[in-house]
Amino acid sequence: MKTLFLSSKQVKRLLTMKDTLKAVETAFRHAGMGTVEMPCKVYLFFPKHNGDIRVMPSYIPPLNISGVKVVNVHPDNPKKGMLSVMATFILIDPRTGFQQAIMDATWITMMRTGAAAGVATKYLARKNANVLSLVGTGAQANTQLEAMMIVRKIKKVKLFDARKKRAEEFVGRYQKKYRAAQFRIARSLEECLADADIVCTMTPVRKPIVKAKWIKPGCHINAIGADAPGKEELEPAILKKAKIVIDDWAQASHSGEINVPLSKGIIKRRNIRAEIGKVVAGLKPGRTNDADITVFDSTGLGLQDLTTAYLVYKLARKKKVGRWLEII
Ligand SMILES: NC(=O)c1ccc[n+]([C@@H]2O[C@H](COP(=O)([O-])OP(=O)(O)OC[C@H]3O[C@@H](n4cnc5c(N)ncnc54)[C@H](O)[C@@H]3O)[C@@H](O)[C@H]2O)c1
Repeated sequence: MKTLFLSSKQVKRLLTMKDTLKAVETAFRHAGMGTVEMPCKVYLFFPKHNGDIRVMPSYIPPLNISGVKVVNVHPDNPKKGMLSVMATFILIDPRTGFQQAIMDATWITMMRTGAAAGVATKYLARKNANVLSLVGTGAQANTQLEAMMIVRKIKKVKLFDARKKRAEEFVGRYQKKYRAAQFRIARSLEECLADADIVCTMTPVRKPIVKAKWIKPGCHINAIGADAPGKEELEPAILKKAKIVIDDWAQASHSGEINVPLSKGIIKRRNIRAEIGKVVAGLKPGRTNDADITVFDSTGLGLQDLTTAYLVYKLARKKKVGRWLEII
């Protein structure tokens, strides 16, 4: 029996945002219906080397797919000419435990993170939302933009980054691709957020930078940056008045945007409206009013990686991409 090996380049060629959105929506729907198995991420820390690895197993019985992602975070890697985040996914056949595929999941991680916000925006943002604000224009911002462009008719993209050059490079990359939208680099965060219908926050800050008074009624926020204990980007006053939707209670309460306000008692579990899966499955309401402020707290689920990796596997087989090797 042979296992399919796929490199980062091959995965990148196979995966489109349109398909990834569908795969992630499927993952969320199964999570909402409770037809999944997904233990919490396991962290292994390398304090001597300022890094860690995270192991994320998951299983969706009705689809008969399972697998595990191993992903690291080593912030000092760029100094060594390496990526700080690298991931590998092992797709495992639940019937036998055999490794169907081993693939790079670095690009899958980026795409499924953009797609998670895309699915949340599809369900939570106003239908006529057309002004997008991107806060932080680093690596994650690319797939956030791609996903937003698919789920809503975006007319204006406003950007802000603490390093202006990064915002300029970002506009350089996308202005031509999305000619119908007007791109504008804001001089301040306040200016970036003024009149925003959809906001994606993607900074590594540990103290809130987005103020409640800058967010207008009807706005939808994808809070992406906070993905570890102690991190937060939004002033808690935003969460107090918003309809909060999270990706997973165990993960979000431990390391998502809600982790700090929860630990300080500023918000309680009863203030969380739903997990996104319940909204996607139609079991809980999302936005109920055009004036609602909605917040999606994303931490990233193993299930998102699983449905996306399975999609890559199917496409690779169909298009005869990758190398089949005997490892057992
Ligand atoms: N929720 C998830 O599933 C998920 C997945 C991947 C990464 N993340 C998190 O998202 C965040 C961004 O990741 P990335 O890979 O894009 O990082 P990155 O370093 O590529 O980009 C971050 C950007 O934020 C900018 N920035 C920093 N402080 C700022 C401030 N105060 N105001 C405006 N801009 C500021 C930086 O200049 C940089 O351009 C990180 O905290 C990361 O841990 C979350």
